[in-house]
Amino acid sequence: MSGWSHRHVLDLASFTVADFATVLELAQRFRALPVAGARRLPALQGRLMTSLFFEPSTRTRTSFELAAKRLSAEVQSFSPSSSSLSKGESLLDTARTYVAMGADILVVRHSCTGVPHSLARDLDRCGERVSVLNAGDGLHSHPSQGLLDLFTLARHFAPEAPTPESLRGRRIVIVGDVLHSRVARSNLWALTACGADVVLCGPPTLLPDCFADFVLAPPPGQAADPVAARGRVQVERRLEEALPGADAVMTLRLQKERMQQHLLTSLDTYHRHYGLSHRRLALCGDGVPVLHPGPVNRGVEIAGELLDDAGRCLVEEQVRNGIPIRMALLYLLAAT
Ligand code: NCD
Repeated sequence: MSGWSHRHVLDLASFTVADFATVLELAQRFRALPVAGARRLPALQGRLMTSLFFEPSTRTRTSFELAAKRLSAEVQSFSPSSSSLSKGESLLDTARTYVAMGADILVVRHSCTGVPHSLARDLDRCGERVSVLNAGDGLHSHPSQGLLDLFTLARHFAPEAPTPESLRGRRIVIVGDVLHSRVARSNLWALTACGADVVLCGPPTLLPDCFADFVLAPPPGQAADPVAARGRVQVERRLEEALPGADAVMTLRLQKERMQQHLLTSLDTYHRHYGLSHRRLALCGDGVPVLHPGPVNRGVEIAGELLDDAGRCLVEEQVRNGIPIRMALLYLLAAT
């Protein structure tokens, strides 16, 4: 694909607007293909995708596996508990074992920030010709989720031609546990690159003020920002201030497993202040959609009735869109 220069997909801070456009365009084409039971595309015939998940996952892992199968790739899955890691083998040696078996793409999820990055660097240094695709590392980055959220929003605003341009000037509100969310961080890079303004909303314990500066400089280790002009990021404490004028609202799971100490008085109080419901959404327009990356704490970050309202809540649409987005990423890394 012309202009595509990434050997690995590790985060979205290094993506140009053209990269986002390439992924959205391919995903739109893959999404138009017939699904279950239909013919597979031969694009990745003879390629092997290995998923290395060191953290639980419902959606991401199966979505990558389905995406690979739809492109005719072979799929191999690794389970840490029954592997030689428990005998002391290093992660790099484990990864190289799979590369020796022929893996072309390693899809890696790990609870520690930076693991997919250092694995990619070490494999490059060893001269291995394999791509690493980050499926979520610690609190840091979850590029395929950021891209599927971007695709879902772009399709909402421009169903026939979902491009980065369809996000320009939109006000996207992200509510909740931003501090522990790699999804929010990936969305911040993706949305602002496409010219959307992001309003973050949550209590100070889950959303420190410094998030307003999040995209002002590239992350450590990256020399320059590949995007000339990004949308703005703003922090609001009250939903009543954040919601008016919103074009879309994304809420995040309270990531209790990543919280170091008690950051909330109670789940009830949190729901009262930050929980989304039909009543709350009266503060923004009728057609304003709600997104959530899942898994959901029903009745905490979002009311059950809103979650079940498919006309308003795009959670299932996000899951559906995850497959063509991951097909696009696998294609870009391994089909050429
Ligand atoms: C997210 C994750 O694992 O980062 N889920 C996902 O991949 N769909 C968000 C979460 O765990 O809350």
